[in-house]
Amino acid sequence: MNLNHKPWAFQHLHSTTDIPTPIFDVLVHAARKLKKISSTPGQYPTLLKGRTIATLFFENSTRTRLSFEQAAQRLGGWVSSFTAQTSSLSKGESLLDTTLTVNALGADCLVIRHSESGVTYTLAKSLSTSLATPLVNAGDGSHEHPTQALSDAFTLLEKWETLKGKKILILGDILHSRVAHSNIELLSRLGAKIFVSGPPTLLPSTQQENRAEIVINPDKVIGEMNAVMCLRIQQERQTGANLPSFSEYFHYWGLTQERFQKLQKNTLILDPGPVLREVHICSEAVESSQSCILEQVRNGVFMRMAILSLMCNPTGFEQWMQDRL
Ligand code: NCD
Repeated sequence: MNLNHKPWAFQHLHSTTDIPTPIFDVLVHAARKLKKISSTPGQYPTLLKGRTIATLFFENSTRTRLSFEQAAQRLGGWVSSFTAQTSSLSKGESLLDTTLTVNALGADCLVIRHSESGVTYTLAKSLSTSLATPLVNAGDGSHEHPTQALSDAFTLLEKWETLKGKKILILGDILHSRVAHSNIELLSRLGAKIFVSGPPTLLPSTQQENRAEIVINPDKVIGEMNAVMCLRIQQERQTGANLPSFSEYFHYWGLTQERFQKLQKNTLILDPGPVLREVHICSEAVESSQSCILEQVRNGVFMRMAILSLMCNPTGFEQWMQDRL
């Protein structure tokens, strides 16, 4: 770990590309330390004491929202929680004015989820004069979900020393999955060989094709994989009739019982959730000892603790990291 590489050089977290690999290494180290002390009550550093983390979720969420809120609270921070369904959005207030309002109430970081791709870039640009508060992308349309990929990479690095040379298959609706897009960028940068498989109409854009090998028939490669990441159909982002029926999706691109049996006994199973049993993944796989699904959820809190303290209290973060080297 190189602490001379100033990890606080970025203001906003829009994409995994905002996190150079040396910063990623620092985040993993911090998340690991936080996880290690998590079993002893009262051991967490109060790196977010007196700071407010605002969570603005314009789209539904279970694990991402709760993990950001728990991350802030565990480090002594306050949470200002905005829920679109019960807000003045229904009275016509815009995204921009809603964000400015939440910020004016007091926020040291704005964590945003929205159905529009690129929303944090737009906000950062249009608010650059009035808003210096760091923005964190908690999932923007089908573009990116950087904190999920950072957490997933952390989970894999707990199982393996390195990602170099590991074969990872991402299975399902790649085109609309912000989780897949962030993971393809990050995991391939860390040295993994990424394979993607899904309905031909739901495969990745040309930009991502050079980072991932497209496999039409997942059965051809599934037995060689070190990990398989399953994705649900992102129905809310489908604009046309570009998906087969649910039963076809499961049969051809889901982790069925039959496909699960073809995996090596140490192949890891990942799923960012929501987990839709027998729709894109069989129960047997979810409940198997190879499944990392609940570990992904737990690790999401530690990784988000590291990210929030790095962004909101870089000096305290650096100090704490040095104390514990
Ligand atoms: C995903 C999301 O919302 O982007 N889940 C998550 O945040 N862990 C995946 C999904 O909705 O399919």
